[in-house]
Amino acid sequence: MKKLVEELVNAGIDESEAKKEISILELEIKDSQKIKKIVEERIKTRTPLQYLLGKAYFMDFEVKVDPRVLIPRPETEILVEETVKRLVIARKDEVLTKQSHNRDNEYKIASPSAHNDIMTILDIGTGSGVIAIAFAKRLPDIHIVAIDVNKEVIALASENAKLNNVEDKIKFKICDVFSSCFEGLFKANKFDLIISNPPYVGACHGKPQQPEVRHEPGMALSGSKENKSGLIYYERILSVIARKNEVLTKQSHNCDNKGKIASPLARNDTKLLALEIDPPLVDDLKSLLKKNKLNNFEIVKDYAGLDRCLFVYL
Ligand SMILES: C[S@@+](CC[C@H](N)C(=O)[O-])C[C@H]1O[C@@H](n2cnc3c(N)ncnc32)[C@H](O)[C@@H]1O
Repeated sequence: MKKLVEELVNAGIDESEAKKEISILELEIKDSQKIKKIVEERIKTRTPLQYLLGKAYFMDFEVKVDPRVLIPRPETEILVEETVKRLVIARKDEVLTKQSHNRDNEYKIASPSAHNDIMTILDIGTGSGVIAIAFAKRLPDIHIVAIDVNKEVIALASENAKLNNVEDKIKFKICDVFSSCFEGLFKANKFDLIISNPPYVGACHGKPQQPEVRHEPGMALSGSKENKSGLIYYERILSVIARKNEVLTKQSHNCDNKGKIASPLARNDTKLLALEIDPPLVDDLKSLLKKNKLNNFEIVKDYAGLDRCLFVYL
């Protein structure tokens, strides 16, 4: 073990990462010759270990990965954990609301009256499917629509949902965020949660420094060529949601005029938007939120103390 760790470190791999990788290899593969071969390949090509093994771990489950998809990151686990916390708090609130009968204006995630107790989630840019699968495994009574622009990616995500026995809860769909299909999703569905880890590495940042990252799909890291700033996916997602939100707010005000209750519950549509973010983009994101009149938001840090999750309450 020590010798293999040393070899990885000499090849430029960080010591703690090298130790982790060798432990994984020893757990996964019993044949020491095979381990040696993988380490050789790892050093020669700097291909991420997850691609060499064909699998990765996310939270408490396993998915297949290959160069079609981004290798799931620990930061995205934080996004899922923090989002689940907010959903659980909102659901508790909902129970309290039902009990007290007089807190109609409370923020609520899933309205039983509106959705027959089924929470509906949209996962934008699903990649290997990890975010959708994590929600499907954690929450009962849930329906997830998971989209990606690439049909090969959707094929792998569907396979991963099957591997994790949650295929009944997730509908995978090929859909480009910048096409009318994306707006169509909001016409056809009423989402309680919209979540995304969009491509946010600005194309103007040049090629990734880390050799491993160069093996990952550009479409996952930066997305389309136009994404020079790293912001275009956020711009698109926020503007579509803000427009939808504005229409619904107007509708609910109209209801109010007719003497009906105007509450988030009465609006009967999206309640929370959760986005993974790149810390240097925070100021630009705040400007985008202001421009779209989305003023009720929260930024949550990761374990390194960096701004990592953006929650917008709608
Ligand atoms: C950063 S990866 C996130 C993958 C996965 N959700 C995760 O967190 O590990 C972004 C994903 O967005 C997809 N994507 C890129 N451009 C897109 C577009 N225009 N419409 C929909 N999905 C897109 C990519 O194919 C990629 O799978």
